[in-house]
Amino acid sequence: MMMMVVMVMVMKVMMVTLPTDSVIFPSPVPEENDAGYWHRLMRKEVDEALNLHHNTKIAKNIILFLGDGMGVTANTAGRILKGQKAGRSGEEGYLAWERFPNTALLKTYNLDKQVGDSASTATSFLCGVKSNYETLGVTGRVKFGDCPSSLNPTNQLHSLLKWAQDAGKVTGLVTTTRVTHATPAALYAKSASRDWECDTSTIRDGAGRCKDIARQLIEDSPGRDMKVVLGGGRAVMGAPSNVDDDYDCYRTDGRNLVEEWKQEKERRGEKAAYVTNTGELLNVDLNSTDFLMGLFSDSHLPFHVLRDDNGPNETPTLTQMTQAALGILKKAEYGFFLLVESGLIDRGLHLNQPVKALEEVVQLDEAVSMALTTLNLEDTLILVTADHSHTLTLNGYPPRGNDIFGTTMYDRITDGLPYTTLMFTTGQGYNYYYDGTKAVRRNLTGIDTTHPDFTSLAAVPTTYEREVHGGEDVAVYALGPMAHLFHRVHEQTYVAHVMAYAGCLGPYLHDCPRPLITIPADAYTLAQAHHSDQVTPSDHSDHDTTHSDHDTSHSDHSEHDTTHSDHSDHDTTHSDHSEHDTDHSEHNTTTPLDHSEHTGVMDHSEHTGGMNHSEHTDHSEHTGGMNHSEHTGGMDHSEHTGGMNHSEHTGGMDHSEHTGGMNHTEHTGAVWVCAEEVRIDVGGGVLAEVGVKAGHFTG
Ligand SMILES: *[C@@H]1O[C@H](CO)[C@@H](O)[C@H](O)[C@H]1NC(C)=O
Ligand SMILES: *[C@@H]1O[C@H](CO)[C@@H](O)[C@H](O)[C@H]1NC(C)=O
Ligand SMILES: *[C@@H]1O[C@H](CO)[C@@H](O)[C@H](O)[C@H]1NC(C)=O
Ligand SMILES: *[C@@H]1O[C@H](CO)[C@@H](O)[C@H](O)[C@H]1NC(C)=O
Ligand SMILES: *[C@@H]1O[C@H](CO)[C@@H](O)[C@H](O)[C@H]1NC(C)=O
Ligand SMILES: *[C@@H]1O[C@H](CO)[C@@H](O)[C@H](O)[C@H]1NC(C)=O
Ligand SMILES: *[C@@H]1O[C@H](CO)[C@@H](O)[C@H](O)[C@H]1NC(C)=O
Ligand SMILES: [Zn+2]
Repeated sequence: MMMMVVMVMVMKVMMVTLPTDSVIFPSPVPEENDAGYWHRLMRKEVDEALNLHHNTKIAKNIILFLGDGMGVTANTAGRILKGQKAGRSGEEGYLAWERFPNTALLKTYNLDKQVGDSASTATSFLCGVKSNYETLGVTGRVKFGDCPSSLNPTNQLHSLLKWAQDAGKVTGLVTTTRVTHATPAALYAKSASRDWECDTSTIRDGAGRCKDIARQLIEDSPGRDMKVVLGGGRAVMGAPSNVDDDYDCYRTDGRNLVEEWKQEKERRGEKAAYVTNTGELLNVDLNSTDFLMGLFSDSHLPFHVLRDDNGPNETPTLTQMTQAALGILKKAEYGFFLLVESGLIDRGLHLNQPVKALEEVVQLDEAVSMALTTLNLEDTLILVTADHSHTLTLNGYPPRGNDIFGTTMYDRITDGLPYTTLMFTTGQGYNYYYDGTKAVRRNLTGIDTTHPDFTSLAAVPTTYEREVHGGEDVAVYALGPMAHLFHRVHEQTYVAHVMAYAGCLGPYLHDCPRPLITIPADAYTLAQAHHSDQVTPSDHSDHDTTHSDHDTSHSDHSEHDTTHSDHSDHDTTHSDHSEHDTDHSEHNTTTPLDHSEHTGVMDHSEHTGGMNHSEHTDHSEHTGGMNHSEHTGGMDHSEHTGGMNHSEHTGGMDHSEHTGGMNHTEHTGAVWVCAEEVRIDVGGGVLAEVGVKAGHFTG
């Protein structure tokens, strides 16, 4: 085996690469050089895609996992690191979220910047509205630092935190940064500057009238009503601490906001716990605790790679914090909304230190994997995304399995010096000197580039820790109810809207109808094929919201879910699609109906499959959002496709008229059920009978 690796290396040297001292991890797939392996693997992947089901349930729970600064490059490098930590080459594997059924790209610009920051981007994905650079929870009318305009209620935004609480859900926040830092603050703060985390900085900036972010967290709704707040930030909260930290936003008003937080909960008759280390966190009786706050550091938590051990006096891992949060939130009858931020990815990248950053990606992977095994994936919407990218690059052409933190060489590199796979266009890693004739870069030979403190090269120098963000799109990975609403390039603000729609929250509290029953999967694929070369964005969204899958395959879901609960990288459990195939054979795929027309807006002229049109007096009314009260008695159900109000449809249907080759019981079109009806009437009624069948996880 070792010989083979060496021989492959030598061959590659002849072509493009020169030897380096980086470790090469072996591929775990001996048969990957055979075409048959790839054909079989891809066939399985095609089958998985063909059997994807749209889960149109209402999301009881919503978790947003946020990798701060986790651009696509960091994601790819994190994937490779995950594999290499397990001794594999790594490229062939997946991070937990990379097996989610739906992925899309998000535009992260700010209203006033081509490349955004965490505060404004978090406002986008948590409040659903774009805003200005470094502002929190306010509209674009508020410029950075403009305290007076941020106090105008018409300029303030509500976030998913409030929407979830208003709908009776419990809420929480887990982060490896200060709990008042940009990303979490967008949940609860309205601030013209993300820097106003404590009173000292508001006063410094002449914004004393504006309440600092820490006070907004513990004094105001919705921040003070979060059941779980776990992260760092004792200094901004005025809580006593022994930790010596370089963050200087200490309170000058002498208040201890943690103590005030606890007292307020006790006044409410709630049991509140405050913890400061792993041991205390793990000892909390989650069953009997109503409110949990954990502040494990003065400022941000330490990088995972720098934590001493897993002892009780250490800071907890992201997974331990997430587990504790879920232990409290899962008790809620009406579900929860939780934000989990792996916030130090961003800090590591700002330092140009890939080891620190990417180990935090792997930490996020661990936390997401844990959540996948402990939650009901049928009624929990799980999103993983990033707020913005960084100027990290992944350079060619290291050999397969090359240590992701290692170096490589290429014969077209003109200075003959090795270079790291990962490097930056900006940052403190700028490291050139002038030898009298030309700029010379650092000779990395013999340097341990895998050390956490190794600072990678940057093309343009910055001050300490100030590598800049990158402006390309970030990915969002989605699983669970309404995950399929992510399907193209979206504005980042769309994330808040999908979460709200999925859970019937905020703007969608009374406006989240969903197609509960749709057409057979075989017809779905025909329609997809038909649309592929003529799709327009608006066609496509029509298409997506009305098509999912057919009834008969739903009975298999529980079995699939069990099979797929193993999120291993090499999923060999997806073999049995035969049940689905059998089910599909019930449908005659050569039906004269044009399935591509079977979207929410139906044209009667397409219905040539044996229907008696003379019964329908006014075809113009048979379009999307059709008012069913005009169609009483003797109707063919195939007409009931366009946004029909199910509660009005009380009978008189004649299925026998439907002779177009489709089994009508499976083709009842898009039946829209109002969210409130579902929640109130349907706890076990219509949803239990129809909607519950819609979910399927193939990841
Ligand atoms: C907490 O409640 C769950 C569910 O009721 C129970 O299974 C578990 O044993 C309880 N744990 C403790 C520590 O009481
Ligand atoms: C880089 O350093 C190594 C080890 O000191 C040395 O052998 C090599 O010649 C150096 N390369 C260049 C181009 O100076
Ligand atoms: C499907 O329906 C068409 C048209 O009615 C018919 O010609 C064909 O034989 C049917 N095929 C199957 C498999 O039932
Ligand atoms: C269509 O429906 C009308 C009204 O119910 C009926 O008179 C006519 O016979 C039907 N035509 C066919 C072809 O079934
Ligand atoms: C449905 O039609 C009835 C009768 O024409 C009308 O009173 C009602 O407002 C319509 N409803 C909607 C939602 O259009
Ligand atoms: C239509 O499908 C349902 C559900 O699978 C089945 O019970 C029924 O017998 C089918 N009807 C026809 C006419 O095939
Ligand atoms: C459906 O109809 C019921 C009864 O007419 C009405 O109360 C409800 O608002 C309607 N829902 C929608 C989404 O139009
Ligand atoms: Zn940043």
